Amino acid sequence: MLGKAQGDPISITGLGAYAPKRVLTNEELSTLVDTTDEWITERTGIKERRIAAPEEALTDLALPAARAALAQAGVEARDVDLLVCATVTPDMMFPTSSALLADVLGAPDAGAYDLLAGCTGFMYALAQAYGMMAAGLAERALVVGGDVLSRILDWTDRSTLVLFGDGAGAVVLERTPQRGFLGFELGADGGGGIHLSLPGSGSRRIEDATGNGYVHMNGREVFRFATRVLVSSAEAVLDCCGVSVDEVDVYVPHQANVRIMDHAAQKLGIPRERMVVNVDRYGNTSSGSIPLALAEAQRDGRLKKGDLVLMTGMGAGLTWGSGLMKWTL
Ligand code: COA
Repeated sequence: MLGKAQGDPISITGLGAYAPKRVLTNEELSTLVDTTDEWITERTGIKERRIAAPEEALTDLALPAARAALAQAGVEARDVDLLVCATVTPDMMFPTSSALLADVLGAPDAGAYDLLAGCTGFMYALAQAYGMMAAGLAERALVVGGDVLSRILDWTDRSTLVLFGDGAGAVVLERTPQRGFLGFELGADGGGGIHLSLPGSGSRRIEDATGNGYVHMNGREVFRFATRVLVSSAEAVLDCCGVSVDEVDVYVPHQANVRIMDHAAQKLGIPRERMVVNVDRYGNTSSGSIPLALAEAQRDGRLKKGDLVLMTGMGAGLTWGSGLMKWTL
């Protein structure tokens, strides 16, 4: 799917993020599995990540992020008429996390649903909420992206354990005087889906129950996929919107691995200083990754009104998605 924004200008008017308090360092991980800080740092750029407390579930992380986004937008929860929550680790399959959030926030008029697109979830949710608003079906959307991947990791598997962390982010979408969203590109390749999977998590019976309920990953294949789509998806959306890569002020790729991100920035021709990097402190937080990075960039003053922002996510599915927007906050 590839398209340029048309119709009423729509933008992000509020942004919030939340990560659990508990910091898990590479040194601590090296006491749990056969790994070292040097290996993790060199291969991924990750130094530490946040891990949810046993009693914390996805909506506990999403709630403060959503409240912060609503506060920044100056929007009351009761005025939200669409709530999309992108996650692969909802509190439970149903009731959906979006329905629970709508209830706790006090958004009784919101159509609310969860969206499953792996680490690309936030980009899919953003495009979908934008589309619903552009079509006139919704007036004010709250888009949440977050995951508690620590719950679905095999804590004895060093090849996945070192990569991921927990966190959530949220944005409010409203009609604005100036055009925020300029275009989106989304894609999926189920043929490669087996390279990043969660066996036993749905209706497919798995005879060999070994590893069921834990993330399985073919790291090298996912690496190849990620380096390819981060570039092709970004180029597609830039081309569709008639924007040159030199015009991009802030580049926010999915925070999976600093090597993957550096490769993409270099291939695209985006100077490293324009790329937002926080994977060193959060690891890969799946659907939380892009909004967490946006929130940090906004807090640091790196993301300013008028900036052209390029975001690209990729992950399980295999899926990918890019969005191009002018920052209007
Ligand atoms: N600590 C120490 N050694 C480890 C290790 C760890 N945590 N994990 C794997 N190794 C070992 C492997 O067993 C292998 O040993 P061998 O050569 O004796 O077989 C060696 O390190 C190299 O493994 P390899 O898989 O080739 O490393 P890599 O350079 O490809 O890096 C990843 C591995 C996982 C960091 C990398 O492939 C990656 O980032 N892939 C993408 C993952 C991703 O982003 N997933 C989420 C997408 S949303």
